[in-house]
Amino acid sequence: MDYSVDFRLVRLFKALGEKDRDYKTIEEYGKDILGSKDFRKIVGQKHHIFSTVGYHSVHVAQIMLLMSRFFDMDEKDIVRGSLWHDVGIYDRDSFVDSMDTAIEHPKRSLEAAFETGTLDDTQSDMIEHHMWPVTHERPVTKEGFFITIADKVAAVTEFLKFHDDRIDAVLDSGAGEENALD
Ligand SMILES: [Fe+2]
Ligand SMILES: [Fe+2]
Repeated sequence: MDYSVDFRLVRLFKALGEKDRDYKTIEEYGKDILGSKDFRKIVGQKHHIFSTVGYHSVHVAQIMLLMSRFFDMDEKDIVRGSLWHDVGIYDRDSFVDSMDTAIEHPKRSLEAAFETGTLDDTQSDMIEHHMWPVTHERPVTKEGFFITIADKVAAVTEFLKFHDDRIDAVLDSGAGEENALD
């Protein structure tokens, strides 16, 4: 593999130009999640001040797909793990404080994903440990480690109000779906 700076920059620009393909991949692998009762519960919930949990989840999936051009990762796993990772943050008032939120919402996300019967070890690791290092237990897979970065990059760019309408289109695509997971 060529690790020269020029080569990596070319790949990065090429990858950024392939966002449409990424959004199609998210719709393809995440269709049932996007339309699920659990996801629709949090889709419009405010998140990172200017964003929503739904927007943020698709955004994290897109950043993970971008990273997968440089580090070999299974696209289906990273889309599904990303879409599930914050599903458990519903009913924010039920958390005691921000530390309790950080510790408890990944557990609730994992529970919701587990109930569908489609979870594997990689997705579980992504969901359970995405708050590391705020929470102490570290990820054990590459995908689990990368989502800790993607989650923070997404949060910062959402806070800076970088908005991509194509993410709204992905969310709309799940709105009317008959859902096999319910
Ligand atoms: Fe989270
Ligand atoms: Fe998140």
